[in-house]
Amino acid sequence: MHHYLTFNDIHFNYPHAEEALRGVSFTLQHGEHVAIAGANGAGKSTLLMLCNGLLMPTSGWVDVGGVRLTEQSLQTIRQQVGLIFQDADNQLFMPTVEEDIAFGPSLMHLTDEEVATRTSQAMHEVGIEHLRGREPHTLSGGEKRRTAIATVLAMTPSLLLLDEPTTGLDPRSRRQLIELLRGFRHTMLIATHDMDMIADLCPRTILLNEGVVAADAPTEKIFDDASLLERCGLERPLSWQAMKF
Ligand SMILES: Nc1ncnc2c1ncn2[C@@H]1O[C@H](COP(=O)(O)OP(=O)(O)O)[C@@H](O)[C@H]1O
Ligand SMILES: [Mg+2]
Repeated sequence: MHHYLTFNDIHFNYPHAEEALRGVSFTLQHGEHVAIAGANGAGKSTLLMLCNGLLMPTSGWVDVGGVRLTEQSLQTIRQQVGLIFQDADNQLFMPTVEEDIAFGPSLMHLTDEEVATRTSQAMHEVGIEHLRGREPHTLSGGEKRRTAIATVLAMTPSLLLLDEPTTGLDPRSRRQLIELLRGFRHTMLIATHDMDMIADLCPRTILLNEGVVAADAPTEKIFDDASLLERCGLERPLSWQAMKF
């Protein structure tokens, strides 16, 4: 297995604010499903936005598949790295679901036929073919989330970044989404404080606390350390607590 995404000593400052990331380093291998866990404000969303150059590091470097992230490599990297925002409404802006999914591919110098194929494939992958003519703002939370994921899949990225994908979903849509993600063979980085989803999906967890990596270890090991989780403002998942009794 070879390295796919590397963060090397990344620092990041928003203007006029304290440092949001303070020397973050980690490496993902191809095909890994990894959680970025942390309390609100830990720096999870910032970290995801640094993976595809929506934000650029103040210092340190990011490498995706052997390509260093710079202003020059932005386009190449964005084709590799698909970010699914926390709020699906930020990702959906066309009159219909189908047009939203076709939008990305239509900017990629593909033929109309190729765009149509990618759009159908992406809808199929997340099971929303029946919603193709719907107006995105009329969809339920779970349907919106799937549509947002499809808009990114249609760009055929090799790395998927998901920011709090289960937030705001009812239990059944949450469960369906987790099952969907479990089937993905993409390399995935999932920012969340949904500890039960982490237990279900991610064998490895990077624990982020106030902009610093507090731990990077097999998820089981992290869940075993209650005091570490508490220091980071998190709790063991309910399923885990039950199993230990
Ligand atoms: N646009 C911004 N301007 C200034 N500070 C920000 C901005 N976005 C986030 N921050 C700050 O950066 C830190 C990390 O935020 P964020 O990455 O959103 O954390 P998380 O996603 O883990 O909740 C927090 O202290 C937050 O207040
Ligand atoms: Mg966030």
